[in-house]
Amino acid sequence: MSKNKQGKKHIHILDGMSLYTRDKSPYFWGYLNLDGEIHKKSLKTSDMKEAEKLLFDWKNELLYSDSIEATNTNKDVIATKIPKVDNTRRKALMITSSLMGAVTVAGFAVPFLSAWNPSEKAKALGASVKFDLSKLEPGAMAVVEWRRTPIFVVHQTPKALENLPKLNDRVTDPVLSEGVARSTNDRFTVLKGVCTHLSCAPKYHPEIEPKAWDEQWLGGFFCPCHGSKFDLAGRVYKGVPAPTNLEVPPHTFDGDTLIIGEPT
Ligand code: FES
Repeated sequence: MSKNKQGKKHIHILDGMSLYTRDKSPYFWGYLNLDGEIHKKSLKTSDMKEAEKLLFDWKNELLYSDSIEATNTNKDVIATKIPKVDNTRRKALMITSSLMGAVTVAGFAVPFLSAWNPSEKAKALGASVKFDLSKLEPGAMAVVEWRRTPIFVVHQTPKALENLPKLNDRVTDPVLSEGVARSTNDRFTVLKGVCTHLSCAPKYHPEIEPKAWDEQWLGGFFCPCHGSKFDLAGRVYKGVPAPTNLEVPPHTFDGDTLIIGEPT
């Protein structure tokens, strides 16, 4: 921790991320530098551990919301945002569809609220959300918000499915019993998009090409916070900070509909 002339305390967390205090505020404030764009706000807590967690959550929120662009057609979903698809790089789609998330995306959510109309109890429990898989192209990924958690939905390509077993020796826990893509569906993998190290948001890199972090990259997720690597089934590589695979949330498939959470 360092103190400047005005008596402010600064706590460096990671490059571009820090906590600081202000003279009259009992709370920690968060500072984020995202590609040169500066963000600051009070985290409304005086507990440092909680402030650090909130800082990571806020960073993830900003990174996701940056990639959101358009709108939704599925009336069963409370709020969906679909960004442009970059077909050349197969970048991640960002799709938000949750009751809890409806608060932060109210502009999109309002037309759909009456269609869903969940009970207060269901809201409190974090009702399940539905996602139409038919719009997700092979190689693309959607991010669906469920219980304030980003859920990655990956449409695996035949090449990706062929490559996954080749990584069994490079990952910590191959979980072969779960099937090649850790899914009951032979095309879609569903994962919590939260790094199992310190909860950063791993980035989707499905390209099969040498990367700065892996010369033999066969596609997967890279967490820029401390360099953890996961394959396209969310299996963590050996020798990285993240201790375990990306979690698989409860989900079921009903034809082209993915239901995340317990079916209601
Ligand atoms: S949060 Fe540390 S590697 Fe992902």
